[in-house]
Amino acid sequence: MSEESRTSIHGQWSSRTAFILAATGSAVGLGNIWKFPYITGENGGGAFVLVYLICIAAIGIPIMMAEVMLGRRGRQSPVNTMAALAAEEGRPASWALLGWLGVVAGFLILSYYSVIAGWALSYVFRTASGLFSGATADGVSSIFTNLVSNPESLLAWHTIFMVATMVIVSRGVKHGIEKAVTYLMPALFVLLIILLFYSMSTGYFSQGLEFMFSPDFSKLTPGSVLVAMGHAFFTLSLGMGAIMVYGSYLPKETSIAKATFMIAVADTAVALVAGMIIFPIVFANNLEPGAGPGLIFQTLPIAFGQMEAGVLIGTLFFVLLVFAAWSSSISLIEPAVAWLVENRGMTRVSASVWCGLAVWFTGIGSLLSFNLWADKTWSLVVFGETLFENKTFFDTLDGLTANIMLPVGGLFIAIFAGWLMKPQSSKKELNTTEKGYTVWINLVRVVAPIAVMVVFLNVVGVIK
Ligand code: PFF
Repeated sequence: MSEESRTSIHGQWSSRTAFILAATGSAVGLGNIWKFPYITGENGGGAFVLVYLICIAAIGIPIMMAEVMLGRRGRQSPVNTMAALAAEEGRPASWALLGWLGVVAGFLILSYYSVIAGWALSYVFRTASGLFSGATADGVSSIFTNLVSNPESLLAWHTIFMVATMVIVSRGVKHGIEKAVTYLMPALFVLLIILLFYSMSTGYFSQGLEFMFSPDFSKLTPGSVLVAMGHAFFTLSLGMGAIMVYGSYLPKETSIAKATFMIAVADTAVALVAGMIIFPIVFANNLEPGAGPGLIFQTLPIAFGQMEAGVLIGTLFFVLLVFAAWSSSISLIEPAVAWLVENRGMTRVSASVWCGLAVWFTGIGSLLSFNLWADKTWSLVVFGETLFENKTFFDTLDGLTANIMLPVGGLFIAIFAGWLMKPQSSKKELNTTEKGYTVWINLVRVVAPIAVMVVFLNVVGVIK
């Protein structure tokens, strides 16, 4: 097929704005509002945030451009895109494995992502019922513990969220994904700003800022650098084909560089604002910044319980958080669904049903991690170095996908786009200025791969 006539069989975004909104919808999600604050708390604050920001700029943005570019050039599911581009560039067909790595990563991430989105969903109703009005930090904390110690109710929320995700995915690119995100992202941002004002009024705002922005490098371990880098991939939805598949629906004329930059800035802003909301509340209530995955569920309700119109604002907040999670979850499963439609001749609806069922089932392991399986743990030792120790099913999946599979995927994307693709192909597809291209090719060829490798080697103890 000639390059000019290539289009995706799954449709195309109606405009550049539609792509930016959908990709921002994929990027902005639980990763920004739930995960970023809790891993920042667990990894000591400022120095961790700094490493994360460097990773976004030096690794995330160039790899995102590469991923969108490969997607738009291949115009198919990541597996088939990689196979087609490898053939076009005279490279081995095994590059399709990179697509498969993404399919598996997306599948695994969605399985636990949906469980956490289920928590957010249940908090919509808890907040709306006025349960948190005037509640103490202890009261809020025990409400959270009650929820996660009840597997039946977690299963119910996880099921509802998965069904909602698969309904949107089955409706396809334009009718489902694009419509869902157009209004939700801006609304979420407005609510975050309202919450930021609340945090400013706690009297602990500067302490929160200090925790997030004044780096104490003694708190940085090789493990926390890995988590910061892994999170840069996770939060930008990189390394697993989600952004590649969205890129495959991108019209020809759109500037990839500009779009990528806008998405990364929006995503980072949301995460930083979320942290600036959470940490003042943590310190004002004498809570533990390293409380783990329950952090936002144990802090924000205190704010909603105290602030004027807290029931309304809190309910709206959790509604929007669920929507943000929703617009990310659809992109996690899109590579698998697109592949089933292309290669197995399934309709979008039946592909969605099968994928949804399998992901739902895997998610049960994560929801049990917070109760019945809380003592069932795993460790991962690589070259004699313990990568993680005594982690639950949930933590293991999260660590394996975000900190290993996504960076490995990203590394290979950078190698393919930077070294194996002919410069004239990437130059033509990116269609940016000469200077912009030079910066990008150097980042993607040298800086990003070396950075990812150094972090990996450091963690397995090769470089100390
Ligand atoms: N970026 C999403 C978030 O921050 O919540 C999560 C995610 C979506 C990760 C899509 C990976 C992905 F491919």
